[in-house]
Amino acid sequence: MKHLTEFDEQIDALAFVPTMGALHDGHLALIKEARKSSQRVLVSVYVNPTQFESVDDLAKYPKTLSRDLELAGSAGADYLWTPSVHEIYPEGLANVPLISAGPLGDLYEGASRPQHFSGVLTVINRLFTITKPQCATFGEKDFQQLFLIRKFAQEKFPNIEIITGQTVRDENGIALSSRNSRLSPEEMKIARVLPRTRERALGAETIQKLREILRSELSTEPGFVLDYAEVVNPSTLLPVSDDFQGAVQVLLAGWIGSVRLIDNFAFTVKEQR
Ligand code: PAJ
Repeated sequence: MKHLTEFDEQIDALAFVPTMGALHDGHLALIKEARKSSQRVLVSVYVNPTQFESVDDLAKYPKTLSRDLELAGSAGADYLWTPSVHEIYPEGLANVPLISAGPLGDLYEGASRPQHFSGVLTVINRLFTITKPQCATFGEKDFQQLFLIRKFAQEKFPNIEIITGQTVRDENGIALSSRNSRLSPEEMKIARVLPRTRERALGAETIQKLREILRSELSTEPGFVLDYAEVVNPSTLLPVSDDFQGAVQVLLAGWIGSVRLIDNFAFTVKEQR
């Protein structure tokens, strides 16, 4: 595998896996998915400043480059690219025109993290423009991000195929996240409230019941501070009414200490109330 500190060669037929590094099995599953295409696999590691609203969160983001190189290579990547801020934002960070993520970018994650999705779309725009991939992979773990990137790519990069990867979880059902490395063993126990909520919620027969279970389960863990638990239509990302029938997506987010965790799962309602 080749380490590129600058994207200085034109590489045809690329399958692209954008990341912020601190790679774990969730990222590696995306690399393996990209490997299935007959294209060369490019992984980027770039902790994008424009999507962080807190300087502290940006500074604390884990950096494990030598391990990332090893892991990406063993998962089948051909290139690992670590661009500089100057390569992505040559105009300087203070002068970057942000791409709006529209009203859907202000909901859920966006309500707690203003500008976050603008920053994500802005960096995806730059990364896609520089690398010109044939396809790019994104995880369902970040459901709202995936939705917004897909919509953006359909409009701005219709030739890039967006490939998705299912959420990879640990043995307790907790979604893998680079941020989990900031949780103590005690806090990792608290995080189990998310998979436990999912398990209980899957027994619900109506949306109303589902919402009740989410509210009660997520309040059982004192160390977990709920931000939102939303039941949305996966094709519009908007909340569904209590009498909705069919496939919905449950979006969850909260805090354990200073660490923000998100999760989501699919659910189908058969009965109407
Ligand atoms: P990052 O959090 O590093 O995630 C990179 C990719 O890995 C994203 O597509 C994310 O959805 C996916 N991913 C993370 N955890 C996962 C898990 N447990 N299972 C499956 N996939 C998982 O998301 C970003 O970086 C950035 O916002 C980025 C898209 C790179 C733009 O800066």
